[in-house]
Amino acid sequence: MKTALRLIPLGLAAALALTGCASSSSPAASTAATEGSSAASTAATADVTLVDPGKLTVCTNPPYEPFEFSDASGNIVGLDIDIVGEVAKDLGVELVTTVTPFEGIQSGANLDTGSCDVVASGITITPDRQAKIDFSDPYFNADQGLLVAEGSDLKDIASLKGKNIAVQQATTGETWAKDNGLEAVTFEDLGLQIQALKTGQVDAVVNDIAVLGPFVSQGFKVAANFSTGEQYGLGVKKGNTALVTAINTTLARIHADGTYDAIYTARIGTAPTGS
Ligand code: ARG
Repeated sequence: MKTALRLIPLGLAAALALTGCASSSSPAASTAATEGSSAASTAATADVTLVDPGKLTVCTNPPYEPFEFSDASGNIVGLDIDIVGEVAKDLGVELVTTVTPFEGIQSGANLDTGSCDVVASGITITPDRQAKIDFSDPYFNADQGLLVAEGSDLKDIASLKGKNIAVQQATTGETWAKDNGLEAVTFEDLGLQIQALKTGQVDAVVNDIAVLGPFVSQGFKVAANFSTGEQYGLGVKKGNTALVTAINTTLARIHADGTYDAIYTARIGTAPTGS
């Protein structure tokens, strides 16, 4: 499924990105974004070749709110999409998102077969993946988290022994559960993990802690933070240095001009503390 997201004029995009961050939404921020954007596009875009010329095609695996999820009109939105939107803006091309299973995203298969230019899907940079994908600079810090029913007493690794734990296929959460000797039931996406917790098929869900928050109002609680020190990166086909350079130039620009902080605050709900 392909969803074409029309590029929004920069001023409006900056205003949208700043929603939820009223106190710091100054005209200065959007002026800086405009200047930074044109400087970045001339410096870094010359050698970039795209699988579908004129478009930056991005593979992503929703539902994974607040990083990639469907809005009320069915468009895929979120922090990852905002960031690749900034990359597309600097490249002067349209952003197109393609929804695919996480397995093909993290294995490099989607990139190798030309399904997309970039994988943006809350992907943790790991040595195994670095052998198959070239990553941008890190843009988000992550840990694993434990989601359980409100009344549950599961709260740490010891209490999870012998329980059924839902993990997402081919993720660092799956690896974490196995490394800790836990009984992991594998699901293709976060939505199916949550469904299994709702029906009682599993006792707990493990996935990146930042995606568990939206379920707290639905009869669940986040019972533990397992500190794994992960970092998300955007991925490109191995050897595509022109695109990695362009992405890193955009990341540097949005960190410098306040756009990253505005996106983070709007999507995560608090201002960033690190990375
Ligand atoms: N950060 C974890 C990993 O890299 C999970 C990412 C899952 N992302 C998603 N959009 N479903 O394995």
